[in-house]
Amino acid sequence: MLRRERRSVLAAEPVGPYTLLRVDRGDLEPGAPGQFFMLEAPGRVLPRPMSLCLATPGELAFLIDPIGPGTRALCGLRAGEQLGILGPLGNGFRLDVERPLLVGGGIGVAPLPYLSECLGRPPAVLGFRSVWHAEAAALVPNAEVVIEPTYVTEAMHAGHDVLACGPEPMLQAVRRLTPHAQLAWEAPMACGYGACHGCVVEVDGQLKRLCVEGPVLAAA
Ligand SMILES: Cc1cc2nc3c(=O)[nH]c(=O)nc-3n(C[C@H](O)[C@H](O)[C@H](O)COP(=O)(O)OP(=O)(O)OC[C@H]3O[C@@H](n4cnc5c(N)ncnc54)[C@H](O)[C@@H]3O)c2cc1C
Ligand code: FES
Repeated sequence: MLRRERRSVLAAEPVGPYTLLRVDRGDLEPGAPGQFFMLEAPGRVLPRPMSLCLATPGELAFLIDPIGPGTRALCGLRAGEQLGILGPLGNGFRLDVERPLLVGGGIGVAPLPYLSECLGRPPAVLGFRSVWHAEAAALVPNAEVVIEPTYVTEAMHAGHDVLACGPEPMLQAVRRLTPHAQLAWEAPMACGYGACHGCVVEVDGQLKRLCVEGPVLAAA
């Protein structure tokens, strides 16, 4: 069930260039893998959407790439500080797949650890731009890792049900290879629950709010 809470930070741990932000779970439900939460650092006007990375009975964890002011404020939180958290939101991955293959690129690995646990640790292929970024692969069981200039699509095996998250060019390439893949897309999001229309994207010729219809969409 969707909840809005203020929760305490348990730890903010470096993982390569990223930060694993571990938050006291309280009464929050983790939701389905691929769903997301809006995280609001103290003093910030707008929250930021983050995929759930890991869930245990006591905590929720988010893997965050500090690319701008909002994500840097979240990565700078310290144990004991509080943040606002709203979720779970959106539509996650369908788990009724026979031969799952998880495909991730860069910070797109963020939802894959929780997805892997929910699917019984299937194989994964992960692509990163450097060995430093690839430290995040340690969070995903049974992962094969490729580093640029090799692309993750070159390591994909045929005959699988693909569930992917990563930068848009990677998702477009995955879609060309596997037309029935489930793909987690991104768009800037101000509210996360359908009110602001800030996340509108064109899907099958129709305008959709990605926070409501997605972020996971069927590729075809
Ligand atoms: C459903 C969803 C789940 C996400 N999960 C994660 C996650 O698990 N970990 C993580 O690190 N990030 C995740 N993101 C992306 C993250 O929300 C953005 O990086 C963040 O909002 C940027 O905020 P900022 O204030 O740091 O930077 P800003 O100043 O807002 O942006 C910095 C730069 O990034 C671009 N940008 C910002 N947001 C997006 C976006 N959503 N898509 C494309 N370009 C963008 C801006 O145009 C700008 O150039 C997710 C986004 C969505 C929509
Ligand atoms: S983020 Fe506000 S409508 Fe989608």
